[in-house]
Amino acid sequence: MSEQHLPAFAPLSLLFCRTAMAAVDSFYLLYHEISRSCSSYMETLALVGAWYTAKKSISLICDCYSLIRLHFIPRLVSKTDLSKQYGKWAIITGGTDGIGKAYAEELASRDMNIILISHNREKLENVTQAIMKTYQVEASFIVADFSKGREVYLPIQKTLSSIEIGILVNNVDVFYDYPQYFTKIPEEKLWDIINVNITAASMMIHMVLPGMVTRRKGAIVNISSASCCKPTPQVAAYSASKAYLDHFSRALQYEYASKGIFVQSLTPFLVATNKTTSYGFLYQNRWMAPSPETYAYHAVSTLGISARTTGYWFHSIQFLLARCTPEWLWILITQKVNASLRRKALFHTPGKELRSWNAGTNFS
Ligand SMILES: NC(=O)c1ccc[n+]([C@@H]2O[C@H](COP(=O)([O-])OP(=O)(O)OC[C@H]3O[C@@H](n4cnc5c(N)ncnc54)[C@H](OP(=O)(O)O)[C@@H]3O)[C@@H](O)[C@H]2O)c1
Repeated sequence: MSEQHLPAFAPLSLLFCRTAMAAVDSFYLLYHEISRSCSSYMETLALVGAWYTAKKSISLICDCYSLIRLHFIPRLVSKTDLSKQYGKWAIITGGTDGIGKAYAEELASRDMNIILISHNREKLENVTQAIMKTYQVEASFIVADFSKGREVYLPIQKTLSSIEIGILVNNVDVFYDYPQYFTKIPEEKLWDIINVNITAASMMIHMVLPGMVTRRKGAIVNISSASCCKPTPQVAAYSASKAYLDHFSRALQYEYASKGIFVQSLTPFLVATNKTTSYGFLYQNRWMAPSPETYAYHAVSTLGISARTTGYWFHSIQFLLARCTPEWLWILITQKVNASLRRKALFHTPGKELRSWNAGTNFS
């Protein structure tokens, strides 16, 4: 720019500067006026902020305390005598594999006699023999396929009528083959989810609870899932069945605690069982997905202490985070994880549904 043009711009920039300063001055004045007239609102807002922060801090401290009290202290003190506290016999449904089997072994290691109920006779025989041999306790089994509906309960009731049941563990479940939209689930699978996940637990409790109430002692453990804490799309029926178990357990605990019965809702995240092998990295990370044995060891130590827990310390941290997570974020994450698991499953078993997926079919 040549120098002879400069004087022509000078008044313009002066005017601009003055206007800007006047604007700043008037904004400052305005701000001052507003803050003077709003000082009482400000103080109220500050008080609300301080109250909210204090409330959150206290609840965080309480959560940390209960985490330590529940997951670490019981393992430092001597183990509770479960058979004395609840009764000598424990029943575990679906006790031939995964968490159920590990839970049965953990109870046997604590001197409980064991009854396993599952649908595979050969597996039942093997696990029962192994438990008797390893832990020197009595063990027995009942063959029952819970997906068959009402007819399976009468023989179970007859067998159990002469036994004093101290602990009932409702562990059996049916899961999706892979995460799927509701209309794509075969009708038979849907009946299985309802019959096995909901009906079996309710009927088993209905069967053993009266005896426990008469003896004024007993414990019922319902294995729900962390997926019950918020709606989980693409495993909708499964997560709803687990929410049923969670609510049911908590309500029963209110009804029967005064009668000497302890009802616990266990809400684990991932445990490394056959069911979760497709979870890849999560499955391999032992902090996040403990082995069923580690999980059972931790979960049994919470029995009688917490009526609702994940049963494992790292899962409790995850549960706290999940509880604070807004629902939209939970849905976003679970939708992504489940969609990827479905893609992976369909990739390995290509067929009709894979073509639908690739064609971008609307699954709603
Ligand atoms: N694994 C996890 O990450 C996880 C996470 C949250 C909650 N959970 C809950 O924990 C519990 C155990 O899970 P898991 O992974 O250990 O399961 P799993 O390894 O699949 O074991 C399920 C058990 O149930 C038996 N079973 C299946 N269908 C049956 C039927 N119709 N009648 C009788 N018995 C039947 C199975 O017998 P067979 O082996 O003979 O089929 C097996 O013993 C479930 O309630 C599940 O929802 C698990």
